[in-house]
Amino acid sequence: MSSVLLQVHSILRWVILILLFLSIVQSFIGWIRRRELREVDAKLWLFTMISAHTTLLIGLILLLFGRFGILSTGLPEGVILMKDKFYRFYWVEHPVAMLVATIFITIGRGVVKKQITDPLKYKRAFWLFLLALLIILATIPWPGREIIGRGL
Ligand code: HEM
Repeated sequence: MSSVLLQVHSILRWVILILLFLSIVQSFIGWIRRRELREVDAKLWLFTMISAHTTLLIGLILLLFGRFGILSTGLPEGVILMKDKFYRFYWVEHPVAMLVATIFITIGRGVVKKQITDPLKYKRAFWLFLLALLIILATIPWPGREIIGRGL
């Protein structure tokens, strides 16, 4: 079960990256062209947020009950969390950074409901999505990263 969830979690990274990239491009165009908010962009942002929330939920399950989850296996004897690169990454850095990125995506999508002009909505969404993308890119365990690296 946990290996299926891990695969889904891993594949969802591509869904998020593609949707987030499209959201950034569209919000930039909307901002620069001073567009009225288009329904299709609001939908794109919504799906970006849903994919991030789903990944977060699965990540939380993996973190708690996965093959080296906090509740399933706990820390091995003698390991000090913040001194161990592997556990520090998977228990602290990755979850916290991804949570922050998901919050940015959620706030970015939330601008749709704000009482502000549409170009301003596009501008705010652009910056929030861009920040989220940078955080996600920096904290994915890409192949080749020492100790924590995983496959694509
Ligand atoms: C945008 C959000 C996220 C993305 C793109 C993402 C991406 C990834 C990727 C690519 C892996 C490696 C998968 C593999 O080994 O094939 C991974 C592993 C993992 N992620 Fe995330 N993640 C996200 C959010 C989270 C969150 C919020 C948590 C915890 C609350 C989390 C917990 C974990 C854990 C514990 C693992 C290792 C699981 C294992 O190897 O058994 N992730 N994540």
